Amino acid sequence: MASLGHEVIAVDIDSQKIALFNQDVVPFFEPGLTELLSKVKKSNLTFSTNFSDISECDIHFLCIGTPQSEDGLQADLRALESAFNSVIEIAQPGSIIVGKSTVPVGTAERFAVTLNKSHPEVLLNWNPEFLREGHAIADTLKPNRIVIGARTEQEAEKLANFYREISPEVPLFITNFATAELVKVAANAFLATKISFINAMSEVADATGADVSLLADAIGADDRIGRKFLGAGIGFGGGCLPKDIRAFLARADELGLSESLQFLREFDLINQRARVRAVAMALKELGAPKGKKVAVLGAAFKPDSDDVRDSPALEIAETLHTLGAHVVVHDPRALESAAEKIPELTYSNSIEETLTGADLTMHLTEWTNYRDLDPMIIRKLVNIPTIFDGRNVLDATKWQSAGWKLLALGRAL
Ligand code: UDX
Repeated sequence: MASLGHEVIAVDIDSQKIALFNQDVVPFFEPGLTELLSKVKKSNLTFSTNFSDISECDIHFLCIGTPQSEDGLQADLRALESAFNSVIEIAQPGSIIVGKSTVPVGTAERFAVTLNKSHPEVLLNWNPEFLREGHAIADTLKPNRIVIGARTEQEAEKLANFYREISPEVPLFITNFATAELVKVAANAFLATKISFINAMSEVADATGADVSLLADAIGADDRIGRKFLGAGIGFGGGCLPKDIRAFLARADELGLSESLQFLREFDLINQRARVRAVAMALKELGAPKGKKVAVLGAAFKPDSDDVRDSPALEIAETLHTLGAHVVVHDPRALESAAEKIPELTYSNSIEETLTGADLTMHLTEWTNYRDLDPMIIRKLVNIPTIFDGRNVLDATKWQSAGWKLLALGRAL
């Protein structure tokens, strides 16, 4: 927003984060963000921990995380509610509060009732965020669609006009609150469904000698199905897909709709099983894991991110470590966040050191630099040239002809 010329004030209660932003340091990795921020006019973007600094703003975006609760499947809305209450205190008549967070259907209406009681002249809109980590800038500047949920079409107009100026070509949907909230969770549930569907096919492929990658290519060639998000492997992780399908299940239970979303329960289990299948394949290869060195390439839940929340890669690494293997983890960006989460593992920022003497190599996050490795050269580093490709992206012929044994889930290799 600031790079487009708007005056933006970003508030967070985390004073450490704000202090870093104030020193032009982005406290997480997102490609291009540091460069973009350096181009923004200083007067257009300020950072603060003080809600009173945003009292004059016309639009208040609530961009608060809604993680899974510690005691169940449901989303934890405490941080969002607290921010909402702080914004209500300072919002001026005529301003809009815009919820970007992913929330259980019914939340926006509940917030609107609260707002209406104390500040009837402040509007609430729900405008879900669809950006992907690693593509945040492009997804923000050129989204696939913009969805604005409001009580009436008229109440969405101010925000709709704001977006029309920024992205006139992007399809814009004005809906009621429930539809806007559901578009977000339904989109993520559908993406999770595609991934788990292909991983279910991978289980069938393992039992029958079929090859899940070729299967995905062939069914994906049908443009009604599409090849995207049919990448079989160790499954989905991150701060969104896993917790969003669980929160959706919890909300469906509350609404008496458990049967309608029962399939998501199965898909969550298929996703968990992909990690277990990867560990089983590693153990089959290693025999007794004690004293064996396992080189793990990748800790982030996906490439171009330093996010390790619910990362399949890190969970597999941790399990192999718990089972007695000497696990060394490499990642181009996520070592710090991984070490903070699982300090017991050994981390290395050198691919060479990670691979040296390895009895098994596990490729678990598909960073481009792993795909670009020369299997002929790195073969000399390892003890046993066996690699498990958890993301099905390595060129099988190249690796095999360089003398490597290639393992993967659901593949006829
Ligand atoms: C997701 C949604 O894509 C985004 O629209 C929403 O706003 C937030 O949640 P993100 O969590 O950044 O975005 O990651 P995404 O690119 O969707 O990948 C999620 C997980 O699925 C990753 O762990 C990825 O490795 C895995 N994945 C993706 C597969 O296992 N196979 C695939 O074919 C695609």
